[in-house]
Amino acid sequence: MRRIAIIPGDGIGKEVVPEAVKVLEWANRRFGLQLRLDYFDWGADRYLRDQVSLPADALEMFRREYSAILAGAFGDPRITDNRHAGDILLGLRTGLDLYINLRPVKLLDERRSPLKGRSAREIDFVVFRENTEGPYARIGGQFKRGTGDEVAIQEDINTRRGVERIVVAAFEYARAHGRKCVTMADKSNVLTYGHELWQRAFREVATRYPDVEARHQYIDAMAMFFVTDPGRYDVIVTNNLFGDILTDLGAGLVGGLGLAASANIHPGSVSLFEPVHGSAPDIAGKGTANPMGAILSASMMLEFLDALTAAAEVEQAVAECLKADETTVELGGRLGTSGCGDAIVRRLAVR
Ligand code: NAD
Ligand code: IPM
Ligand code: MN
Repeated sequence: MRRIAIIPGDGIGKEVVPEAVKVLEWANRRFGLQLRLDYFDWGADRYLRDQVSLPADALEMFRREYSAILAGAFGDPRITDNRHAGDILLGLRTGLDLYINLRPVKLLDERRSPLKGRSAREIDFVVFRENTEGPYARIGGQFKRGTGDEVAIQEDINTRRGVERIVVAAFEYARAHGRKCVTMADKSNVLTYGHELWQRAFREVATRYPDVEARHQYIDAMAMFFVTDPGRYDVIVTNNLFGDILTDLGAGLVGGLGLAASANIHPGSVSLFEPVHGSAPDIAGKGTANPMGAILSASMMLEFLDALTAAAEVEQAVAECLKADETTVELGGRLGTSGCGDAIVRRLAVR
């Protein structure tokens, strides 16, 4: 038996997670995986009710008792400083030392890309986003706040250990998955301290992987080439903030945020799976959110748990639904959130 924590969170997180759970339940039945799902109500409502965001014993509990965590999204217009989301999401990423944020950019249905005439073969790469450092370390402060002289400082943390391990993870992934090239994106032409460290770490790690091509590109140029020539990418490695921004752009390349999945991994330890999108207050509560990003995140969880066939079949079923226009409204389909989840499970059930 393996325990899986389910944290739907806020907004459309609460709507898409039940659809991803349907897929995990299918995998349980079909492959006898014996995943036991436990629910946690952490999110904006709980925080506003009793000030609990991430309970103090949560990290230890997950480390000891759980194999994986499935989360929805965190963010609520009532909590303007985003405190609870920081505590829960960033708290889990740093507290469980989930230093790899793996975000695939894969075109499952060629009609879904806003780019003209791009084949699925061309848009198929993965982003390794460093997940514990950069400005996300939340080190800094404010001075003379609210006055005309105020100062705000937000430090950008880049440690040799932190940079090296995400670069190693990218090269290891490339080698294990037959990917030919790792491209590191930074802004070392301006950030001559922090990103110069990235440059050295990248070059040194690359020498250990002579079978994988190592390229460097400045982040601004990469943003352009994402749109004009995405076929040049195989594996990308970058820092926390650039990875955040690039992967929403990546989601745009394959059909939008409703489709993008992610894995927050510490190899060999409890890891967290979640769609790339947020709580989408503009559509929350309507039952129209696309559950495919959450379902593909469940597929990434199944892969992490070594249920490789189940993982591949879930991705295949999502691709089939996209091609058959069994989608939610933002992609031109007619299905609601749960109808879309059901359509995917229906395709899985006949395998
Ligand atoms: P968002 O990802 O929630 O939404 C951006 C746009 O994409 C919106 O128009 C939304 O309707 C659309 N969209 C997102 N997911 C969709 C889906 N599954 N189906 C259809 N359309 C979808 O980003 P935002 O609006 O910038 O942020 C909203 C809140 O979510 C904020 O509080 C933010 O901090 C938070 N957030 C949380 C996470 C997370 O928990 N991982 C990620 C991003 C943003
Ligand atoms: C994401 C989100 C988070 C991030 C926010 C909500 C803290 O945008 O998972 O991409 O910036 O990492
Ligand atoms: Mn983001």
